[in-house]
Amino acid sequence: MHPMLNIAVKAARRAGAIINRASQDIGTLTVKSKNFNDFVSEVDVAAERAIIDTLKEVYPTHGFLGEESGSTTHTSDFIWIIDPLDGTTNFLHNFPQYCVSIALQHKGEITQAVIYEPNRNDLYTATKGRGAFLNDKRIRVSKCDKLQDALIGTGFPFRDFKYLDDYLNMFKSMIQKTTGIRRAGSAALDLAYVASGALDGFWEIGLSPWDIAAGGLLIQEAGGIVTNLSGQSGWLTSGNILVSSPKIHDDMQALIASHLPLTLKT
Ligand code: IPD
Ligand code: CA
Ligand code: CA
Repeated sequence: MHPMLNIAVKAARRAGAIINRASQDIGTLTVKSKNFNDFVSEVDVAAERAIIDTLKEVYPTHGFLGEESGSTTHTSDFIWIIDPLDGTTNFLHNFPQYCVSIALQHKGEITQAVIYEPNRNDLYTATKGRGAFLNDKRIRVSKCDKLQDALIGTGFPFRDFKYLDDYLNMFKSMIQKTTGIRRAGSAALDLAYVASGALDGFWEIGLSPWDIAAGGLLIQEAGGIVTNLSGQSGWLTSGNILVSSPKIHDDMQALIASHLPLTLKT
């Protein structure tokens, strides 16, 4: 395993241990609301602290972009992009679908990725150019070649309803053209599931870099396609993402394109 990935795995497992311990007694946790429908618990903060401390010990000059602590000032070419607990709402409801997501960006390119699902002790990893793995076993996206056979993941708008009607139009077309849609509540884990072939595709509007940086590399390294909703690059900055196994990407994109407002084309 690449040495930088190795440290990221150590950090993700530490965060996972904090999350697992806290899941035994959710009722006692302090929870704050950051915005409408946007919660942060002491677990999110403690898990992020553990990840950054672990990485900083080995890479003291690197930059960090964490969901809870924001962006650090630095002059490094390396930036760690961290979501310490993706699926906080699920976690707080004891709905067992959440994960830790860590990616390393080097000169603008994602080069290392870890997604750790503490409930199942499942570890997804990828290094650019070296393939994607689940618990050390090579993974590939599904072989699905028809939209009508595809199981698709998504995320519903729940904080910002600006694009709700556009989204619902996409959703309406998608449920009529596919086998089914799942909204499990952790975008990073949904992306890991596309990488391992459990889902054939996924789309969501308005995500943040820490939701998608690691999952995007996992999918690319597993042979899948990662684009924005127009089928172009730029998904990491816009947060509007469409991923799938190669043979259904054009059809998914065409379906989404027919409901795409100008402001969502990036
Ligand atoms: C959220 C989850 C959710 C997605 C949201 C994300 P959080 O992350 O990934 O599935 O729909 O857009 O913000 O807040 O639980 O880390
Ligand atoms: Ca998240
Ligand atoms: Ca989070």
